[in-house]
Amino acid sequence: MLNIQNLHVYYGGIHALEGISLEVPANKIITLIGANGAGKSTTLRAICGLVKAASGTITFRGEDITQASTTQIVQKGITMVPEGRRVFPDLTVLENLYLGAYTRKDADVKRDLDWVFSLFPRLKERKGQLAGTLSGGEQQMLAVGRALMANPSLLMMDEPSLGLAPMLVQEIFNIIKEIHSEGKTILLIEQNARAALQLADYGYVLETGRIVLAGSGKELLARDEVRKVYLGEE
Ligand SMILES: Nc1ncnc2c1ncn2[C@@H]1O[C@H](COP(=O)(O)OP(=O)(O)OP(=O)(O)O)[C@@H](O)[C@H]1O
Ligand SMILES: [Mg+2]
Repeated sequence: MLNIQNLHVYYGGIHALEGISLEVPANKIITLIGANGAGKSTTLRAICGLVKAASGTITFRGEDITQASTTQIVQKGITMVPEGRRVFPDLTVLENLYLGAYTRKDADVKRDLDWVFSLFPRLKERKGQLAGTLSGGEQQMLAVGRALMANPSLLMMDEPSLGLAPMLVQEIFNIIKEIHSEGKTILLIEQNARAALQLADYGYVLETGRIVLAGSGKELLARDEVRKVYLGEE
């Protein structure tokens, strides 16, 4: 579904991605793990067109989207839940959700709103509340809900469990499973490498702008270097 070939991204003089290649097949859950600053968020930003590729190609369903605008990319079916739950604090829950659907012209927005409310009943109860007054966990749910309102075929999530209490972390992982079972393809970045690798069909390990390891979630969980560096085992 998504194919990245030899992608290079710079921020000024910083070479953040040094030739990344990866694949996200349809209906799979793929995870990217790596230390702080490895280039995980940059990879998602490049896919969304928020940072430009210096070279390399990004293809989505056979179409080259390397130079496409973010709006075009959303319309083609890719959305992202950004790092740090960027909801609009002065808008209500409902307004935030409808903003997620702003590029849509189809008639199924209401259907997807009902789906988001069934995934997150808490958001339905609080639909008139200003997003800035939601708890951290509720804001994370809203950020996921807003991304789903674009009706993406590929949903990318940048550390959705960051800063959440253990019970909520489990809930977010359950929600990811449920979203996946509704036919969405998922590209997930997680600090919680163990949970991500247990959930994912396939994973990539990033180190300072390069992919250093790749394999099924099971394979990566069994690798010594992954266990030491990312799972904190001796
Ligand atoms: N806007 C920016 N300007 C300059 N450098 C940047 C910018 N954004 C990211 N970088 C640099 O690019 C590299 C990759 O950053 P990125 O945010 O992709 O890492 P990450 O893997 O998501 O890390 P984390 O786990 O901390 O979120 C880092 O060295 C970072 O300092
Ligand atoms: Mg990041």
